[in-house]
Amino acid sequence: MTAEGLEPIETATVEELRALQLERLRWSVRHAYENVPHYRAASDKAGTHPDDIRALSDLSRLPLTGKDDLRTNYPFGMFAVPRERIARIHASSGTTGRPTIVGYTSDDLETWASVVARSIRAAGGRPGHRLHNAYGYGLFTGGLGLHAGAEKLGCTVVPVSGGMTERQVRLIEDLRPDVISVTPSYMLVLIEEMERQGIDPRSTSLSIGIFGAEPWTNGMRREMEERLGVHAVDIYGLSEVMGPGVAQECVETKDGPHIWEDHFYPEIIDPVTGEALPDGRKGELVLTSLTKQAMPVLRYRTRDLTRLLPGTARPMRRMDRISGRTDDMIILRGVNLFPTQIEELLFTTAELAPHFQCVLTRSGVLDELTVRVERRETATITSAATAGEHVRRLVKSTIGVSVRVEVVAPGSIERSAGKMRRIVDERPPRH
Ligand code: DLL
Repeated sequence: MTAEGLEPIETATVEELRALQLERLRWSVRHAYENVPHYRAASDKAGTHPDDIRALSDLSRLPLTGKDDLRTNYPFGMFAVPRERIARIHASSGTTGRPTIVGYTSDDLETWASVVARSIRAAGGRPGHRLHNAYGYGLFTGGLGLHAGAEKLGCTVVPVSGGMTERQVRLIEDLRPDVISVTPSYMLVLIEEMERQGIDPRSTSLSIGIFGAEPWTNGMRREMEERLGVHAVDIYGLSEVMGPGVAQECVETKDGPHIWEDHFYPEIIDPVTGEALPDGRKGELVLTSLTKQAMPVLRYRTRDLTRLLPGTARPMRRMDRISGRTDDMIILRGVNLFPTQIEELLFTTAELAPHFQCVLTRSGVLDELTVRVERRETATITSAATAGEHVRRLVKSTIGVSVRVEVVAPGSIERSAGKMRRIVDERPPRH
């Protein structure tokens, strides 16, 4: 690291970055081909050999990899090294069926810690800072991922994990952390708990919030920054590719996460046809690992919808805030919508809290969506009902679909210590 703490690649030119990526891509494709039967079979079927990768653009000749490929090869079939070299296992947070198992060699853990250290630094964290880590520890990559990166940067880590909200607030008061890492929805729960205990959230020692693991909006950023008095920045990642620290937003620009492209090569594809799209176009993010040993991924479909933007604070490209996952898209009478669109509209009123769920029901053959949202403590029932009506009209005029908005009392929507469940599907199965 240099005096300012940046790694040389963070100040490299785009040409230098591309040259490094090509060298690493060729290694990664060959490594996967030679050591993972799935990749060999899929490449052979597509008629592509590792020798065909002569330029970064040749990547699109390789087949895409999906979650089903990982499921089919459960648990260890996608590993490219002997099992004894696997130093750690994690799993994706899938809610149904078999989890997806991922593995790391000790070199991979080192790489992961480096990209997370780089991410915390980009967020404004510095050696000597205290970091309160409220991402869950365990098979989920959030807790241990942030933990190792913070230690590597030279922070003092408080490994709190998720839950026991009252105690979290006490620890923040007593240990006076500078940085907090947590899902945005659980941060809201912590803020509420501070208020319940009579603590002004703006008065805590916290100055940086590293929020991710679920979609959130710029409206939520303003909410956090105002209520908590921190810089709120976005961290992105997924277990299949590594964990947190695949991309990180820089505090000086707050213009979307920079993808750490020296380790993860991004593409955007049309989620329906699989066709590669140019930078700037919105579609599904596809990632290829460039340095991973234990479980290389080639053209992994993340199901996350975003677009690629040019680098600003770093030479690496940025991704736009994720609008949603392809599997979280609500299709209502032919109109596609995501909970993030609802979240953004809720912030247009001062009476409604950002605690909401999208409840899907069916009446006859028609699907219906009810946005169940809490009124703020400060709002009266009548003013909140008017605000609900305002949001209903906005959904109709901006998204183009009719929904119901049900305003409920503060505290009546379930809270989560990790990722928040935004969509509640109460529709009976179709026959
Ligand atoms: O959520 C890793 C992580 C932990 C990221 C802590 C950031 C902080 P998974 O459990 O495998 O891994 O879930 C990955 O979560 O494909 C996205 O759909 C979603 N996600 C993660 N970060 C963001 C973000 C971790 N910043 C899935 N914005 C991903 C929106 C996010 N969605």
